[in-house]
Amino acid sequence: MRRGDLARSTPFRLALTFGALFLGAFVLTGVVVYQLIKLDMYRRHDDAVRQTFLSLAGTYEDDRTDFLDAVRVDMQATRHRNEVYLAIGDDGSKLAGNVPLVDVPNGWSTLPAASLGLRSDFEYRVFAGPVRDTRLVVGESYRDIENLEDLTLGSLAWTSILVLILSVAGGALIATRAERRFQAVRETMDRVAHGDLAARIPLHGKGDDIALLSQDINLALGRLQSNVEGMRQVSTDIAHDLKTPLNRLGISLEEARRKLARGQPVEDEIDAADAEVQQINGTFDALLRITQIESGARRVRFGPVDVKEVLEAVAELFSGALEDAGMSIETTLPVGPCTMEGDRQLLMQLYSNLVENVLRHCPKGTHVHLSARVTDNEITSRVEDNGPGIPSDEHENVFRRLYRLERSRTSPGTGLGLSLVRAIADIHEAHLILEDANPGLSVKVTFPRV
Ligand SMILES: Nc1ncnc2c1ncn2[C@@H]1O[C@H](COP(=O)(O)OP(=O)(O)O)[C@@H](O)[C@H]1O
Ligand SMILES: [Mg+2]
Repeated sequence: MRRGDLARSTPFRLALTFGALFLGAFVLTGVVVYQLIKLDMYRRHDDAVRQTFLSLAGTYEDDRTDFLDAVRVDMQATRHRNEVYLAIGDDGSKLAGNVPLVDVPNGWSTLPAASLGLRSDFEYRVFAGPVRDTRLVVGESYRDIENLEDLTLGSLAWTSILVLILSVAGGALIATRAERRFQAVRETMDRVAHGDLAARIPLHGKGDDIALLSQDINLALGRLQSNVEGMRQVSTDIAHDLKTPLNRLGISLEEARRKLARGQPVEDEIDAADAEVQQINGTFDALLRITQIESGARRVRFGPVDVKEVLEAVAELFSGALEDAGMSIETTLPVGPCTMEGDRQLLMQLYSNLVENVLRHCPKGTHVHLSARVTDNEITSRVEDNGPGIPSDEHENVFRRLYRLERSRTSPGTGLGLSLVRAIADIHEAHLILEDANPGLSVKVTFPRV
């Protein structure tokens, strides 16, 4: 990862933001705790000074010497002049003490060392008051508190720096890891952009958001790949399929030209050319229809449709033609209606295509059976014949656009009938399946009833 990339990485920015927030909270807490401890320490410091004053004052019962001795004993115990003692007689003379005679007002005062005649960087907290016929001044420097303050502030600063370093380092670590996985996504998309539709993002099954996103992208890429391959296939098939009728059209025109030159009638050639043009036209019409249905635009026209009524209408529509071809048709339908949401016109087309296939691809004497069954959740319909059927390894292929079985190459049709059936079933969210009727073909279409 380049350095500029790190600053732009979302995980790194998040880690930094959280680091900054954490640092802010940490410093705020530190300052509050520090202030509270400081207040308490000043209070305890005052208590200690007052305590010393009171205990010394307590030693002055009758004898001033006892009192002064006590002051001297305390005085000797102090080092570095951390504590100050001064006993002043009623004539204003120094009776005992470790500081020069200075003027200190009664009560509490906070004094710089210099005003006590001392050399020190620290201030002193001093309490002065009368003890019988003397005045006693007791004080203690803020040295311990200030040392502790320095220590606390120092450790707060160091800890903050540590937190900052940890959050930047942690953020960089997280960002690098995430970046590596995003990099894999980018590389894959780059390969896709350069035409490699089979490229997929490697999945490191962790189930986190990046893994889920990668899965979704892979799924979309799979769809894209099969769509593009489907389109490629269809374009090739169309080109291939149109070659034959166009060739035949060319031959008819050539033949007509030759006959014209010889002064012979050309009606047959014109008829043949017309038939080829119709065939080509039919192919394009059906292709356009399938595309239009697949776009789902017709779904807005959905309304209640009775499948039973549709099947009856189709049977009625084809009965004449089937009879002429030496075939027969029969229906087995439920007593009540089979209503669902759909497009009646498209459903008519679906069943018409299936019955038309029997008419086209089955021999004389074939019997067609239309049936329907209805439950609360679905409607199952079947178009069944006892003709030659379709081998089961071709069951998927016959749904491909322009695909026809080898034996049907010469029979009329475009190879788009079943593609249209599938497109119509799909927009009705129906389940479409070909089955062997032994002998014959059974097409089962199951519609959900919402
Ligand atoms: N009922 C059927 N019995 C036997 N073969 C069939 C039947 N229906 C369809 N087929 C086969 O499936 C192929 C594809 O059908 P279809 O897509 O409707 O195209 P078309 O009918 O234009 O040939 C047909 O060419 C035919 O070989
Ligand atoms: Mg057909």
